[in-house]
Amino acid sequence: MRTRLTDILEIEHPVMLAGMGGVSYHELVAAVSEAGGFGCMGASTMGLERMVEEMGLVRRRTDKPFGVDLLTALPGDLPAQVAAVIEHGARVFVAGLGVPRDVVELCHDNNVLVASMCGKVRHAVAAVGAGCDLVVAQGTEAGGHTGTVATLALVPQVVDAVGDRVPVVAAGGIVDGRGLAAALTLGADGIWVGTRFIATPEAWGTAGYKERLLAMAEDDTVVSRAYTGKTCRVVRNDYTRHFEEHPEQLQPFPAQLLTSMETGANHLGGGPDLEVDPDREFWPAGQGVGAIHELVPAGELVRAFVAEAEAVLDRVASLR
Ligand SMILES: Cc1cc2nc3c(=O)[nH]c(=O)nc-3n(C[C@H](O)[C@H](O)[C@H](O)COP(=O)(O)O)c2cc1C
Repeated sequence: MRTRLTDILEIEHPVMLAGMGGVSYHELVAAVSEAGGFGCMGASTMGLERMVEEMGLVRRRTDKPFGVDLLTALPGDLPAQVAAVIEHGARVFVAGLGVPRDVVELCHDNNVLVASMCGKVRHAVAAVGAGCDLVVAQGTEAGGHTGTVATLALVPQVVDAVGDRVPVVAAGGIVDGRGLAAALTLGADGIWVGTRFIATPEAWGTAGYKERLLAMAEDDTVVSRAYTGKTCRVVRNDYTRHFEEHPEQLQPFPAQLLTSMETGANHLGGGPDLEVDPDREFWPAGQGVGAIHELVPAGELVRAFVAEAEAVLDRVASLR
């Protein structure tokens, strides 16, 4: 399956692992890239030292290209972080929560591509205007920070707005090859997948996270500001319910993020040995979760996405 995305990233399959903070660590990133997809590290939960260490571990497991995602809006020295992303061998820098105007030139001078997460058409137009090389159109179905427009509505509108200039990658609610086929049909050049890759043996995460996802239905997530102060789709629990009932207690980003950490409800970045309270914990997840029933190795998932999409597209073609 060859698209503008596979060409620009020099990969085999148009399947990108979302740069999920707390989840997309070296094992998962390397497994996806090694399988011919594009692994993207979620470095927003890492300090600079940990990020560099994780990048080295990816490199030890694969010589295929990979990317690093950082939340542009988080306080911190973004240019210094991006300099480390460049120095330690990423092919793409992905900016979550905001157009990374200040670092586009730095990346391009060093042959690193820049991607931007977009929940609205105007975000995509701004990102391309600032020089970004690809955009991810992420619908509200997505796990993590998310907007209000659904994937099915957003993707073709972003394709119409910027698709003649850069590849568009579809995200939000995509959990199998049907989603890949649908994304291509909408005019996207590939997919950016989060929640489905949490349910893999290679994903990082606190104890109980993966098991919880396997037991969930499609309506068990909620968009809440309880954990960061920004709208974020997460597993619904007592903590999110508390802030639904007491919205006056919510603080703006990033103060609410500090509160959730200080009150022991946010251990994103913790590993499988860390026991947490499932009724309070910050477990981002998307609406596609109801279709995930088992842990599957990440490389297998990449191949299954493509094989299923090809079968679906053949079936659809045979209808004509
Ligand atoms: C656990 C988790 C953490 C996430 N962290 C980030 C992040 O740090 N930066 C970012 O750009 N997006 C983040 N996202 C959003 C993903 O990049 C992606 O857009 C989303 O997961 C796609 O929707 P899906 O979960 O339905 O596949 C996160 C999502 C999840 C589920």
